[in-house]
Amino acid sequence: MPELVYNPYAFSLHEDPYVVYRRLRDEAPVYWNPELEFWALSRFDDVHEGFRDHATLSSANGVALENRGRVGDQFRQMIEMDPPEHSAFRQLVSRVFTGRRVAEMEAQIRTIVSGYLDAVTAKGEADLVAEVTGPFPMDVISVVLGIPEGDRAELRRHADEVMVRDDGKIEMPKVALDGMLALVAYFAEDLRGRRPHVDPGLISEFLELKVDGRSLTKLELLGFCTLFVIAGHETTTKMVANAVELLDRHPDQRRQLIDDPTLIPAAVEEVLRFHNSTQYMHRTLTRDIERHGQIMREGQSVLLVIGAANHDEREFGPTAENFDIHRRAERHLAFGYGAHFCLGAALARMEGRVALEEIHRRIPDYVVDRDRARRFHSGNVTGWTSLPITFTPQYPAV
Ligand code: HEM
Repeated sequence: MPELVYNPYAFSLHEDPYVVYRRLRDEAPVYWNPELEFWALSRFDDVHEGFRDHATLSSANGVALENRGRVGDQFRQMIEMDPPEHSAFRQLVSRVFTGRRVAEMEAQIRTIVSGYLDAVTAKGEADLVAEVTGPFPMDVISVVLGIPEGDRAELRRHADEVMVRDDGKIEMPKVALDGMLALVAYFAEDLRGRRPHVDPGLISEFLELKVDGRSLTKLELLGFCTLFVIAGHETTTKMVANAVELLDRHPDQRRQLIDDPTLIPAAVEEVLRFHNSTQYMHRTLTRDIERHGQIMREGQSVLLVIGAANHDEREFGPTAENFDIHRRAERHLAFGYGAHFCLGAALARMEGRVALEEIHRRIPDYVVDRDRARRFHSGNVTGWTSLPITFTPQYPAV
């Protein structure tokens, strides 16, 4: 058996992380990577507890391994705060980003997705990522935030750049650092010209929010804008292409979805569990703790490996490693758990459902060209940069 090495930046891992995850769960449930200096927790119960116990596993030192210790330089994001400070910001933004607001977006999301599909259906081929699943979540989050149409392609490019990593390397490449600087510069400029009450979208509403009786600082406003645009775009765009690639590999289950679209919400849930676009979150220990006989020390890094926990047969039974849209798992950790549970979960689920409904209604016989497909390589985000498909051309009715 080769030595067990878990390096989240290794391109070879991205091909099939689940082989390594299984070994982590079985052989080293508390795994130490001496080169990159982090612990990894991989069993469902440990990851779940890690998300729950924010007093011991803090987010305040960064939630991406490569960003640890570099929090607060360019912006202050609530995802990198612990309660009680986090709770104040979370309550604040939950007041304006409500479930009702999300529910009211369904027709608009369908129009956006349909627009991208209209542009490809007659061709009989497309790069699904470049032409459909890449652009549409940026349009959706831009409607939420109030970002003008003409700026969205550039923002999407920068949001993608931010996530890029080199093979095996923890250091953020120049393209990622430049992408982040460009996003911050964009929003710094945008905020200068925003008019509360006049301009549509959340950004204008952020300007009016008060925490502890004061308005948000520039770093806090930049934090909300960058967090929403990256979290809202990256994970969702990857999720929909992951779903199509998985369903292409499971033609029987795809057939069932086409015949009965009411199965689609459950299929979205299974995609999230089985191959989530977010593979891990980073935490920092606030005290020494012991798990499975290992002592982990205060100040050390811990990865809560969502992708491994969601395949744990201790939680999901002997079929945990199978993709099954009929599974109906009671819970999974795709959106985290506890204080930082994904604020956009309802929006992401709706975007996934609407996109899969429209794709399977309009181009149901797609075939993924695996020779030309290209993976997206990042630290904790899993997906495709390019997913070429062919299908029977559909022409609009005349
Ligand atoms: C498939 C899509 C998505 C996945 C897999 C995902 C995953 C996650 C996860 C795992 C967390 C927890 C982070 C932690 O505990 O440190 C999180 C937090 C968050 N997500 Fe998502 N997310 C998705 C879509 C979205 C969308 C569409 C939005 C847009 C509004 C969004 C906004 C956020 C925000 C603002 C947080 C931080 C919440 C807080 O700190 O309280 N996410 N997401």
